[in-house]
Amino acid sequence: MLSLPRSLARARPLVPSRHIHSQHRTTSFGFKTIPEESKESLVKHVFDSVASSYDLMNDASSLGVHRLWKDAFVSTLKPGRKGPLRCIDVAGGTGDIALRILDHARESYADRETTVDVLDINAHMLKEGFTRFKKTMYHNTPQVSFHEANAQDMPHSLFKDDSYDLYTIAFGIRNCTSIPAVLKEAHRVLKPGATFACLEFSKVNNPLFSTLYDQYSFSIIPLMGTILAGDRESYQYLVESIRKFPSQPVFAQMIREAGFATGGDRDGGAWTDLWGGIACIHTAVKL
Ligand SMILES: C[S@@+](CC[C@H](N)C(=O)[O-])C[C@H]1O[C@@H](n2cnc3c(N)ncnc32)[C@H](O)[C@@H]1O
Repeated sequence: MLSLPRSLARARPLVPSRHIHSQHRTTSFGFKTIPEESKESLVKHVFDSVASSYDLMNDASSLGVHRLWKDAFVSTLKPGRKGPLRCIDVAGGTGDIALRILDHARESYADRETTVDVLDINAHMLKEGFTRFKKTMYHNTPQVSFHEANAQDMPHSLFKDDSYDLYTIAFGIRNCTSIPAVLKEAHRVLKPGATFACLEFSKVNNPLFSTLYDQYSFSIIPLMGTILAGDRESYQYLVESIRKFPSQPVFAQMIREAGFATGGDRDGGAWTDLWGGIACIHTAVKL
């Protein structure tokens, strides 16, 4: 059993409810089709394996571009502009988005009251994030807290209905077994009128760019995984999982089906493409 820092709250339910219902369903794990109940442990294995090299690999595999996308994501949301926010960053990993939210609120609006609860299913990823936050001014303040929990089944006692102003999830939702279950939980914890925002890899629409991107992804990224992290398979999974994620309009429709309002089905409406759709920001409002 991994021992967590005391301030990493454990919030894992003993029996995730979907296990009761999911015995005969299948889902994707990269390009493989697997029983739904196996995905969580396989994904956990991936992030256990990559946790210590995650930030380095993110920089190497995206040539630093993930930083620009994350900056654009948080700038779009303007946390702090209308006063302090209560935020939850789900699948928050090593805390990249949480740190940006707090920095943006402080640097742009002199806001030191916005808070972020970072939630992730993986204790190793959270531990990396916790260690990283120790070097920041937010450590040991009420502005940030870390919670080990499943995005699909957040404990109601800790993550109450109608309690957050902003829900963010970056490069996390495609790793979850059930996207609708994640969206349902997002809707539950947000206040009416509050914002859901997702940054995720998406579909590249230009065929030439798509071919070049595929060649880069499937040859270079697993190779970098081997060289920098000694782990080809986990990075192969990460690339494959991107291709299995729903296209922009399909994901926008899933968001609406969870009870959110979105803009129209186009770039600049329900979503904003980044780099021709390699990544994409989806925003929505809880009705
Ligand atoms: C690619 S990382 C993204 C981390 C961070 N948001 C970022 O942008 O750098 C995906 C994260 O999703 C987490 N994750 C996967 N399934 C999850 C689930 N069901 N509930 C919560 N977190 C989950 C993983 O543990 C991992 O930390």
